[in-house]
Amino acid sequence: PVFTVLNGPNLNLLGTREPDLYGAAGLTEAQTRCEQVAGELGVGVEFFQSNHEGSLIDEIQQRAQSPGLIVNAGALTHTSIGIRDALAATGVPFVEVHVSNVYAREDFRQRSYLSDLASGVIVGCGIQGYELALRRLAALAAT
Ligand code: DQA
Repeated sequence: PVFTVLNGPNLNLLGTREPDLYGAAGLTEAQTRCEQVAGELGVGVEFFQSNHEGSLIDEIQQRAQSPGLIVNAGALTHTSIGIRDALAATGVPFVEVHVSNVYAREDFRQRSYLSDLASGVIVGCGIQGYELALRRLAALAAT
C-alpha cells in the first residue's frame, strides 16, 4: 500500500514559519522521516502540498482508492466544507495531523471540519505526528 500525506496552505513554510509554534524542521525532513518509517513497515508514502483548496480537493478525489491519507489541511481545517465533502465522498480512511497543539491556541482553531470523519487525530506532536499517523494507517490497512 502507498499512503499519501496531504499538506495544505503555508505548510511549505514549515521550519521557517513561527518556529516557536511549529518547530525548526521542514516538510522535507518530515518526508524523509516518513520514508524511513515506510521502509521499516514495508509500505509506500508520498507527499503533496498545496496552498490552494481546489488542488487539495482534486488530489483527494484522485486518491479515492487510496489505502489511507494523512491530512494536515492547515488553516483550511477550520474553514473548508469542500475538503470535508471530498473526504466524505471518497470514504478513504484518513488521520488528521496538526503539528502544533491547536487546542492550546486561538478559539478559531478549536473547530475542525474534518475531525469527526477522521479515523484518528494527532495534534501537538510536531512533525513526528506524520510518522505516528503513517504507523496507524499501516496498522489499520493490515487488519
Ligand atoms: C496547523 C494548525 C492550523 O491551525 C494552522 O492554520 C496551520 C497549521 C498545524 O499543523 O499545527 O497552518 O494545521
